[in-house]
Amino acid sequence: MENAHENAKENAIEFCQVDYLRGDRPLVQQLTFPVKSGETLILLGQSGCGKTTTLKLINGLLLPTSGQVLVSGKPTQQWDLIQLRRQIGYVIQEIGLFPHFTVAQNIGLVPSLLEWPAGKTQQRVYELLETVDLNPAQFAQRYPHQLSGGQRQRVGVARALAADPPILLLDEPFGALDPITRLELQRTFLNLQQHLQKTVVFVTHDIQEALLLGTQIGFFQSGKLLSLTSPQGFYHSARPEAQAFLQGFRMVDDLRKRLQGDPPHDSPLQEAFPQDLAS
Ligand SMILES: Nc1ncnc2c1ncn2[C@@H]1O[C@H](COP(=O)(O)OP(=O)(O)OP(=O)(O)O)[C@@H](O)[C@H]1O
Ligand SMILES: [Mg+2]
Repeated sequence: MENAHENAKENAIEFCQVDYLRGDRPLVQQLTFPVKSGETLILLGQSGCGKTTTLKLINGLLLPTSGQVLVSGKPTQQWDLIQLRRQIGYVIQEIGLFPHFTVAQNIGLVPSLLEWPAGKTQQRVYELLETVDLNPAQFAQRYPHQLSGGQRQRVGVARALAADPPILLLDEPFGALDPITRLELQRTFLNLQQHLQKTVVFVTHDIQEALLLGTQIGFFQSGKLLSLTSPQGFYHSARPEAQAFLQGFRMVDDLRKRLQGDPPHDSPLQEAFPQDLAS
């Protein structure tokens, strides 16, 4: 018992032999892995490999067909789902802001549901807008259609943080952005995570993003977890499936080195390959 209690403290989330089937088709199979408190676990893998399904098994949008997902030591089947989701901020793949709500109303949604006093909610909304680098005076009263894609994604992250949940699930939160905006948001995330130390499960199929943001990388293929390693471990993985992912990344790295060997005139490409990302 003592051990189980210690594990629950250390592991914010734990998958124990989890299968999830639709009809007789397994979408994920035999998932067994811990997510330690305060870590950023990246779920990396090709489209359709089961990443979103795995996230939904954490916040109880899906329940395992067999096995258990423990959140704070308790299986999702035993959680009151409303209580469970209060522990978990969720940024879905398409952001999912409510179009008829202002930015402030979108971010303040969960605090309002929790019946925080209006003044406290507003203060929190403004604080979060600052946190994700959006000027409250400029953005709080806008509607989602009055924002760029990158700004909408910032609002999505702010909304997930609103009630200060210990766990954050992010499903390709920076997908479909131009590389510079994406890099800005990745930097914002790294800064935030340094201060907040949330337990984060972050889905991406972008290898560079995985290596930059993750403390652990869970590599998925066809509904199975092939490996769970540090970014460094993944980078040096000899698995052919991992190599295929790394190939594109190494090509960019080689290109960067080749370009750096060029005569030192102003090259716009140097901007595109910042050194701090490659180290
Ligand atoms: N409601 C559903 N009914 C049947 N099959 C589904 C359903 N939802 C997802 N799937 C299938 O389950 C598999 C895993 O889907 P999932 O959404 O978890 O993939 P993913 O890794 O998140 O992919 P992507 O990177 O494209 O978002 C896919 O083959 C998908 O077609
Ligand atoms: Mg997905």
